[in-house]
Amino acid sequence: MSSVVQDAQKAGQRVGLKSDKIVINGGKPLRGRIEIRGAKNLATKAMVAALLGDTPSLLKDVPDISDVGVVTGMLNAYGVSVTEIAPGELLLDPSNVLKAHFAEIDALAGSSRIPILFCGPLLHRLGEALIPDLGGCRIGDRPIDFHLDALRAFGAIVDKSYEGIRLTAPNGLKGAQIELPYPSVGATEQVLLTAVRAEGVTELKNAAIEPEIMDLIAILQKMGAIINVEPNRVIFIEGVDSLDGYEHRALFDRNEAASWASAALATEGDIFVGGAKQQELMTFLNIFRKVGGAFDIHEDGIRFYHPGGTLKPVVVETDVHPGFMTDWQQPLIVALTKAEGVSIVHETVYENRFGFTDALIAMGANIVVHKDGLAGYDRRVARREFEQAAVITGPTPLHGADVVVPDLRGGFSHLIAALTAEGRSTISNVGIISRGYEHFIDKLALLGADFIYEG
Ligand code: EPZ
Repeated sequence: MSSVVQDAQKAGQRVGLKSDKIVINGGKPLRGRIEIRGAKNLATKAMVAALLGDTPSLLKDVPDISDVGVVTGMLNAYGVSVTEIAPGELLLDPSNVLKAHFAEIDALAGSSRIPILFCGPLLHRLGEALIPDLGGCRIGDRPIDFHLDALRAFGAIVDKSYEGIRLTAPNGLKGAQIELPYPSVGATEQVLLTAVRAEGVTELKNAAIEPEIMDLIAILQKMGAIINVEPNRVIFIEGVDSLDGYEHRALFDRNEAASWASAALATEGDIFVGGAKQQELMTFLNIFRKVGGAFDIHEDGIRFYHPGGTLKPVVVETDVHPGFMTDWQQPLIVALTKAEGVSIVHETVYENRFGFTDALIAMGANIVVHKDGLAGYDRRVARREFEQAAVITGPTPLHGADVVVPDLRGGFSHLIAALTAEGRSTISNVGIISRGYEHFIDKLALLGADFIYEG
């Protein structure tokens, strides 16, 4: 990979360039070894947690992705210095926390949803928080009502204005009894980050228990928090007066691992994903095997490969942990276009997460999205009347097309589709992919993909 490409990619990561594109000549299996580092969905939250400490924190294995850049910018705006002391190792020093100007926060926060998690820590440190309109992937309404209801339960006063949301806590934050309507990852993190320094005990019911949340709890415990995870999605948090910094190596990115695994399967390739671990991927591995993929678990990673033969169709339902993650379905669906027969993927977490299939259809896939789910289908989790189902009939050879990346995971599935397709594809707006996939251009080159990246 030339340094020009690397520089261009870095520039794309920094500013989230909308114009960058990649031209892919498909049909070549991806083969080789890549390394993955800390999870986007843990590292960014761990960085916010550093704001709660009285002393500096050291976070290791931080991925070089643009969402980390967004959180770094926000922490800087609040007076937290973030220094990369070694590759992937961030020293976060909160000793000079100060009030940031709203314009500064607004400019920084626009492309991410993480800013909402600053609420609790900022209320504890500064007595107020100002949250602008949130960004993140456009995959449904993605409201923040669970977050705001939880913050109100702690005693925060929430004022909505044209600028965004202003929170204050004139009487401090007090432990609360909270039951989430749904085991939301972000709302669970919001409660944890707020309750650890609230006065008294918080009981959180219907909490999310994703591995990234368990890793955040481990970090908070290192800082001095007292958190008990009970059976049946109940978490008790006993508030403490102060917290220290932490030293922690971030959990690996299981979403990135599953994405490259699906890329190996769809392209009939063989990818060793260094840093991937079995435990957090068990549900994915079962489905991967049922589709016809093979994997070998090693101490330093997992080898994913297509063992030959035909792929088999599956019925999958996305769910909260320990279910099949919503972030795994998009890359898997590309592999399912190669399976012999009819696969069904039900999306139960987000109400609008099949938009990316339009591009796959343009490339020759036979996918029908049932916007209201499948009537009469015996659902394991009947969550919402508006949940969707995608029916994929294969095998259908894909051909090259010009597509525009709609969101992070959908974008990665477009990359895989183009890599499997006959002919040339142009994928625009690939900057979004660097929100969550570290150095993906370099990794594609390492795996032997035939492409030209135009920043
Ligand atoms: C996190 O989003 C991840 N993002 C998502 O990853 C992931 O898909 C999701 O969890 C589920 O695992 C980050 O960690 C930054 P939720 P989050 O709150 O926390 C509804 C990726 O590509 N809801 O568990 O925002 C919501 O609309 C991203 O890496 C409310 O109704 O997810 C959704 O339908 C995309 N009100 C459901 O709950 C609320 O106040 C689950 O959302 C909050 C959520």
